[in-house]
Parts: sequence; C-alpha cells; structure tokens
Amino acid sequence: MQIRMVKETDLESLRQLFREAFEEEGEAVSNLALSLIEDKSAQPRVTLVAEEGDRLVGSVIFSAVTLEGAEQICSYILAPLAVVKDVQRSGIGRKLIESGCEALCEQDGDAVFVLGDPEYYGRHGFFSKHHVHPPYELPYPEAWMARSLRGISLESLQGRLICADSLMRPELW
Ligand SMILES: CC(C)(COP(=O)(O)OP(=O)(O)OC[C@H]1O[C@@H](n2cnc3c(N)ncnc32)[C@H](O)[C@@H]1OP(=O)(O)O)[C@@H](O)C(=O)NCCC(=O)NCCS
Repeated sequence: MQIRMVKETDLESLRQLFREAFEEEGEAVSNLALSLIEDKSAQPRVTLVAEEGDRLVGSVIFSAVTLEGAEQICSYILAPLAVVKDVQRSGIGRKLIESGCEALCEQDGDAVFVLGDPEYYGRHGFFSKHHVHPPYELPYPEAWMARSLRGISLESLQGRLICADSLMRPELW
C-alpha cells in the first residue's frame, strides 16, 4: 500500500470510494470531496490517496481555513476521510492522517481542525478542549477537535474558523 498525492485521473475512483465508505451519506460526501478538490478557496490543499495495486482504498482531504482575527495562523480542516470497508482497521486511516499532517508541516501549517468521532480522532492527537469556534453551531461540540502541528501551542488561539466555500454550508455541520 502506498500513500501519494491525488492525480486528475483518480477523480472518478475517488467519487466511488467516498460513496461506498459513507453509505447513506455517500452521495453528499463524495459531492463534497469532488467540489473541494476543484474549489480555489480551499487552497492550499493536500489531497492524499492510499493505493493498493491499481485500486484506491482510502483518501483524505485537508483544505485551508482562516481563523478570524488571527489570519497569520496557517490552519487546515481535515474533511473528508474514508477507507473502503474491506480494508478498514488495517491502519490506512492512521497513515493517511499522519502523512497528511507531515505534508502540512512542510507547508508551515500550525493547526488542523476536524469534526468527527472524538474516540477515533482522539487517538491521532486531536483534542476538543480548545477555544476555536466552528463556522456553525454544533449539536455535539466535543466532536469539534484540533491538533497542533510543528509543536505549536494552540492554547491562545480563539475566534471563529472560516472554511472554503464548499464547506460553508450549515447542512454539512
Ligand atoms: C473512520 C475510518 C476512516 C477509519 O479508517 P481505518 O483505516 O479503518 O482506521 P485505522 O485502521 O487507522 O484505525 C482503526 C482503529 O480505529 C477504530 N475505529 C475505526 N473506525 C472508527 C470509528 N468510526 N469510530 C471510532 N473508532 C473507530 C477502530 O476501533 C480501530 O482500532 P482497533 O482495530 O484497535 O479496534 C474508516 O472506518 C471509514 O472510512 N469509515 C467510514 C467513513 C467515515 O466515517 N469517515 C470518518 C469521517 S470523520
């Protein structure tokens, strides 16, 4: 299995991958993924795929976000992440997250945010006790997490996060 940057020729397989992994939400998530990949306001962006032979088995997208009042902070949001069912629980999700964070560090990233399962992301260095607000109010605030990159302290960060246009839709939150 290798992790690499996405290519133009991957897009149809990616659509299928997100559709299958997210089941009933699959159509919406695959539309979001494809729209983020084309979205100029999501740049800089890191899109990785996990490939086994000639099959894509996982993918993750990190897109740039802006922290209101602290525009000098270089931060990203992780969304979406998916691994196909038959190879889940073999560490591919972890490798995608770690390779993505390494790539963001190389782009001088300071922080990554995610809205997801605290149990899963808590194992990957994300925590809920930070002071950055999501773009929209959430029913489960503990699912809104941050991870520091390059050892930067997130203690003093506060304000509201603004995402790429594709993500600034309340129904996605
Ligand atoms: C969530 C997902 C990306 C994890 O990918 P993965 O490659 O299976 O994850 P890893 O192999 O790196 O880690 C597996 C560990 O995480 C845990 N885990 C996997 N999915 C989990 C979930 N949804 N919630 C909590 N823990 C989860 C497992 O318990 C496993 O640990 P264990 O095998 O020791 O029990 C994958 O299950 C997936 O694509 N799910 C459907 C789409 C989705 O929900 N994406 C997340 C969007 S926020």
